[in-house]
Amino acid sequence: MHLSHDPEPISSSVNPSLSSTKPNRPNVGLGLYLSPPAVTKRTVLWALEIGYRHFDTAQYYENESQLGEAIRESGIPREQVFLCTKILFPEGSMEGSLEKCKKSLKDMGVDYVDLFLIHSPTSGPNGRRELWEALCRLKEEGGARQIGVSNYGVKHIEEIKTFSNVMPAVNQVEIHPWCQQRPIIEHCKANHITIQAYSPLVRNTKADHPVLRQIAETLGTSTTKVLLQWSLNQGYLPLPKSDDLGRLKENFDVRGFVLCAGDMKRLNDLDEGMEGAVVPQYTEAP
Ligand SMILES: NC(=O)c1ccc[n+]([C@@H]2O[C@H](COP(=O)([O-])OP(=O)(O)OC[C@H]3O[C@@H](n4cnc5c(N)ncnc54)[C@H](OP(=O)(O)O)[C@@H]3O)[C@@H](O)[C@H]2O)c1
Repeated sequence: MHLSHDPEPISSSVNPSLSSTKPNRPNVGLGLYLSPPAVTKRTVLWALEIGYRHFDTAQYYENESQLGEAIRESGIPREQVFLCTKILFPEGSMEGSLEKCKKSLKDMGVDYVDLFLIHSPTSGPNGRRELWEALCRLKEEGGARQIGVSNYGVKHIEEIKTFSNVMPAVNQVEIHPWCQQRPIIEHCKANHITIQAYSPLVRNTKADHPVLRQIAETLGTSTTKVLLQWSLNQGYLPLPKSDDLGRLKENFDVRGFVLCAGDMKRLNDLDEGMEGAVVPQYTEAP
């Protein structure tokens, strides 16, 4: 699966195609959670100008239509942009959930999205199955190139195997040095599931952490860039969010320095497991 900025075809392979080690092609996508609808269009237009081609929204974020509007206004061909959205709650029937997914396409004004995710595993076994079957149907009908999940724990991924022969292409989970989700990552790797890393900047709550600061200062870069390069080096696709022009630019370009093995180890050693998460975690949701 190819999830970079480049308008290359999506392949069926997963991790080998992550081009995070290519210095000119950082796989940084733009997150749009808490991007107020009134500013989302401007933010996305700035981001497209900077070079972002991967956008992460959700029905829950209420800014899908502004994202679609910005892409049309930019004049950049649809196929050069990677669009991901998510559905949170089931509607009570596969057909109802499918219709709800199609509403996202209508709101964005697109024929397909590149990736459609189940936002969370919190709707119970029946709800999760209904949502997955709706996404499978959407994919069959051409409304989604790839489908996946978010916030799924090992047991939720295993559950899919009991009723479907389609596996998620992606699991989007919170990942940064303080919350590394190691059991889930190992399980996703074993099942060829690509990891998108949300809240990769820890919502800027760790900018003063002594280890992070010291690494950034030694390398003459920012703490934000260190966090994003850490994520890329692990093979993840980080999705930093910003509505600020300067920060959008800063987050997109993470070149110009290299985190050595020692720096990576110091960052890896910061893991606090679920205690380090900034978003409530549902990986054990029943
Ligand atoms: N699937 C899920 O359940 C889920 C959950 C959470 C997030 N996500 C996705 O992941 C994306 C990112 O996660 P997130 O929004 O939680 O957190 P984040 O990207 O770690 O942090 C965003 C915060 O950091 C600030 N910021 C951005 N760049 C900065 C910089 N260079 N220096 C200092 N501060 C900076 C932003 O403010 P400004 O906007 O003012 O720059 C914003 O307050 C979301 O937008 C969403 O797309 C998914």
